[in-house]
Amino acid sequence: MKVEMQTKKRILSGVQPTGDLHIGNWLGAINNWVTLQEQYETFLCVVDLHAITTAYDPKELSKNTLSTAALYVACGIDPKECSIFVQSQISAHSELCWILNCMTPINWMERMIQFKEKSIQQGNNVSIGLFDYPILMAADILLYDADFVPVGEDQKQHLELARDIAQQRINAKFSKNKNILKIPQPIIMKNGSKIMSLIDGSKKMSKSDPNEGSSINLLDTPEIITKKIKRAKSDSYIGIEFNNPERAESRNLLMIYSILSGKEISQCENEFSETGWGTFKKLITEQVIESLSPIQEKYKVLINDPHQLNNILIEGKERADDLAKKTLKRVKSKLGFFEMGK
Ligand code: TYM
Repeated sequence: MKVEMQTKKRILSGVQPTGDLHIGNWLGAINNWVTLQEQYETFLCVVDLHAITTAYDPKELSKNTLSTAALYVACGIDPKECSIFVQSQISAHSELCWILNCMTPINWMERMIQFKEKSIQQGNNVSIGLFDYPILMAADILLYDADFVPVGEDQKQHLELARDIAQQRINAKFSKNKNILKIPQPIIMKNGSKIMSLIDGSKKMSKSDPNEGSSINLLDTPEIITKKIKRAKSDSYIGIEFNNPERAESRNLLMIYSILSGKEISQCENEFSETGWGTFKKLITEQVIESLSPIQEKYKVLINDPHQLNNILIEGKERADDLAKKTLKRVKSKLGFFEMGK
């Protein structure tokens, strides 16, 4: 076991516990973790500190944190092999974040597309935390010496920022060998890394979209899934296509169908080349319900066993804490902080 741990490369990723997770989070991120977990030493956090960067309900935060951890396992993450933990339980995240804050030029942050988009939604209520969000994310990743970070397309810019901070602002400035922090690489899958809204194929499916019909959530009932897909935007063409630039909704639903059914996109295109929207919507509805049903069943069992979930999070925290402390100590020592007993 020890030898195996040392030879495996490491991945780290996370999801915010902000309300219901949707099929974009699943197909863009969690599903990939499930595939990668055998090959890599896997650390997965529930990023609750990120969840308070926009308005939130304190009564829901802890519940959503537990529910997100339960969904990781329900989707197929093996807690015996992977470390699942809650970000706020490990104070090194906030501490490294502060150090990185002091090393990062403000104009790097002003380029962040997600900040610009989210701050428009927030109106006059934009917190410093929302601006700082990508640096906390960099701390999450760099603390664990992650080799790879499996995420959806929208996180690419944040990953580049984490790499730049580590390379240019820490390694290059504070170490001759330039080896204080490991430089992580993103893993962004070709299929599923950008699932679009059901009601507007040009917009990303997003938890913060106020229109509930825009996303399919992992815990939606068959009735709700049926209703949402029935109301999903369609067009006046016959046949479901993938490569027609004028048909974003057709492309998106075909992508979802292809991943869930395990059929190649070209095979789906052939199968549905003359199918009307009504028939296709029935088929994709059946597929989504069938694919989510085992996740929902497993979730029900887990969420009703808080003791088991708690144990999973305790074990995950212990493994994560160990690593995080070591990295933080290394960084503080190289950056010249006072050390006790020296
Ligand atoms: P969050 O919760 O917004 O998203 C979690 C993951 O889901 C992916 N995702 C999507 N993938 C495909 N299509 C979509 N429509 C879609 N919407 C979301 C995201 O890319 C992400 O992989 N900032 C991160 C959370 C985070 C993190 C980290 C990730 C904090 N620290 C460290 C990796 C490593 C985020 O986007 O959360």
